[in-house]
Amino acid sequence: DWSQTNLVRGSRVFYSQQWTLITDICVSLLLLRSLSAVSPIRGLRAVIRETGGHQLLEIWDCHGLRKCLNLTALNKHGRLYEDAQFGCLSWSECENKLLYVAEKSRNTSKETDDGESDRSVYCEDWGEALTSKSSPAICVVNLQNGAVSVLQGVPPGISPGQALWAPGSQSVVFVGWYHEPFRLGLKFCSNRRSALFKLDLEGHCECLSGDNLSVSCPRLSPDGSTLIYLQGQVFGPHNQCLSLDLKSGKTSTLLDVVNRPQPGEFAGVYEALPSRCWSADSQRVVFSSARRNWKVTSKVVCDLDIRGLDTVPSMLLLTVQRDLMVVCCSSPNTPPTLRVGFLPSAGEALTWQTLQEPVMTFDFHWTVLDVTPPPGQDNTQYSGLDFGAVLVKPSPALSEGRIPLVVFIHGGPHSQFPAEWNCTTAGLAKLGFAVLMVNYRGSTGFGQDSILSLIGQIGSQDVKDVQTAVLTALQNDLTLDPKRLAVLGGSHGGFLSCHLVGQYPDFYRVCAARNPVINAATLLGTSDIVDWRYTSVGFQYSYDQIPTSEALAAMLEKSPITHAAQIKAPVLLMLGGKDRRVSPHQGLELYKALKSRASPVRLLWFAEDGHSLSRVDTQANCFLNTVLWLFQHL
Ligand SMILES: *[C@@H]1O[C@H](CO)[C@@H](O)[C@H](O)[C@H]1NC(C)=O
Ligand SMILES: *[C@@H]1O[C@H](CO)[C@@H](O)[C@H](O)[C@H]1NC(C)=O
Ligand SMILES: *[C@@H]1O[C@H](CO)[C@@H](O)[C@H](O)[C@H]1NC(C)=O
Ligand SMILES: *[C@@H]1O[C@H](CO)[C@@H](O)[C@H](O)[C@H]1NC(C)=O
Repeated sequence: DWSQTNLVRGSRVFYSQQWTLITDICVSLLLLRSLSAVSPIRGLRAVIRETGGHQLLEIWDCHGLRKCLNLTALNKHGRLYEDAQFGCLSWSECENKLLYVAEKSRNTSKETDDGESDRSVYCEDWGEALTSKSSPAICVVNLQNGAVSVLQGVPPGISPGQALWAPGSQSVVFVGWYHEPFRLGLKFCSNRRSALFKLDLEGHCECLSGDNLSVSCPRLSPDGSTLIYLQGQVFGPHNQCLSLDLKSGKTSTLLDVVNRPQPGEFAGVYEALPSRCWSADSQRVVFSSARRNWKVTSKVVCDLDIRGLDTVPSMLLLTVQRDLMVVCCSSPNTPPTLRVGFLPSAGEALTWQTLQEPVMTFDFHWTVLDVTPPPGQDNTQYSGLDFGAVLVKPSPALSEGRIPLVVFIHGGPHSQFPAEWNCTTAGLAKLGFAVLMVNYRGSTGFGQDSILSLIGQIGSQDVKDVQTAVLTALQNDLTLDPKRLAVLGGSHGGFLSCHLVGQYPDFYRVCAARNPVINAATLLGTSDIVDWRYTSVGFQYSYDQIPTSEALAAMLEKSPITHAAQIKAPVLLMLGGKDRRVSPHQGLELYKALKSRASPVRLLWFAEDGHSLSRVDTQANCFLNTVLWLFQHL
């Protein structure tokens, strides 16, 4: 299933492509929604369709539409969840039941309240990008009689999601996130307390995992004997290296957290598992993960033998079914292509078949840089860490003289710029800019030590790392123009962009920042992830924390606002009016500081957008305005 942005309609379109591998035929057909699931035996396709704000469940087979249920009219629950955090659509073994997660009906969720008065009672939700997710319920539809039921017995004080059928389809396994005294944002946070539960259809529920842990992505082996899932710690960095645990009778750890990856070796698990990741014989698991400046696909055999399967720059495993793996391959100058290959047995070689050549390729030149911090910038607690960057340069034909350089900084901070296709980078390169994407210490793919090294050091270690990477690139490549440098980034990348123009005011000529953190002290009271505000500046967090002047001072001191008076570069700010992670008032603080000094600033306000500024119109608007801003000031 694919999605594509349609700039004319201002929306995202979903479609599906089917390949018949033997005859090399490809068929595309339009889907109306992103959530669909194909049943394993009869190949029935369940699709959630949206018409006029109502949700329909459709079942298709090769003869056409077989069944359609109006979920809104059935009125057993609120909206069905289609997000990646909680959402699921799972076929039972007999293929006549489907499992999904939906918002509880208002009348069931407020059953102890007395009608009228509860309308103004504050209702907690799961934060940025999950504001419509408040009280999820696990639902089962019986396709034979069209009945929808909401499963009872989920313990109070948890939100269930990522549900799947247990063997025999008489019970379900799900992840439950604890509400604790109150909820913290979940999106991009793998450090929230959660557990695995098993619930039978009579309403008996048992907890399968340990206490005070964060678990996610349960995946059952085809023979039903073994369940694997990801596990991490509660609190601390909001995205960390996770362990891969296994439960078959007793629980054991299959892959532990990697503190310091050895060169060329597996570097740890940092992201969600594909929805299908088991080999047909239930002996192996395949997934992809960050490794330095790459995304690689790894195979885990139960005896812990791990091997990189290929050296294509970036390879994302989408699924494996009956040992046929489907991977998405790309590089900074090649848009994604699909490849398929059978999982080889021990000692056998793997061969990939490309399903479709890329629409186009570009003659950009790209390289990967390994950067060692200079001696004065080594982290004393986590000594000897290095980091990386990816440099993309425009086609030589485009550039006369030296090439302007855009320093592109990722957010998180615990995320990654793999050497893969990125349309923003490609667009900039196509317009004649070189782009340097920096994986400063704290990025994923470099081990847990690298992630921990940034705690308490934001605003200094990460800023210096980006600066070191830029100096390294300029030294290595004399075609780059040190007089025409731009910085670009969102969220923590926006925080770093503003730091760089403040701390090196004579070095950078222009800045564009999306929803940047400007003053972490004033952000404290408004962010949906208040724990990270403390953790990032080196303080322990607990739910009952009351701010101290010491904590607020640390947050302020590490923030770009303290350097605002030095900023000379013109700053473009792009803000989402509904951002719950980094309030748009952050960007406004910098806007006012710059305005009052007659320093050039331009503010774009997207009233309907959240933190990611990802609505189709907004994306196009931000890209075009960024490019115009760079042209104007470089
Ligand atoms: C689905 O049900 C809702 C609520 O009863 C109704 O307004 C809507 O028209 C129905 N949609 C379809 C396509 O039947
Ligand atoms: C919610 O209320 C509607 C109408 O008041 C009713 O038809 C429906 O059955 C109720 N849902 C549940 C789950 O009780
Ligand atoms: C839970 O674990 C975290 C770190 O993993 C620790 O800081 C915290 O104190 C633990 N909480 C409880 C209640 O044990
Ligand atoms: C390009 O990189 C930016 C920064 O990490 C990221 O936000 C964006 O989603 C990426 N775009 C694509 C198409 O991968």
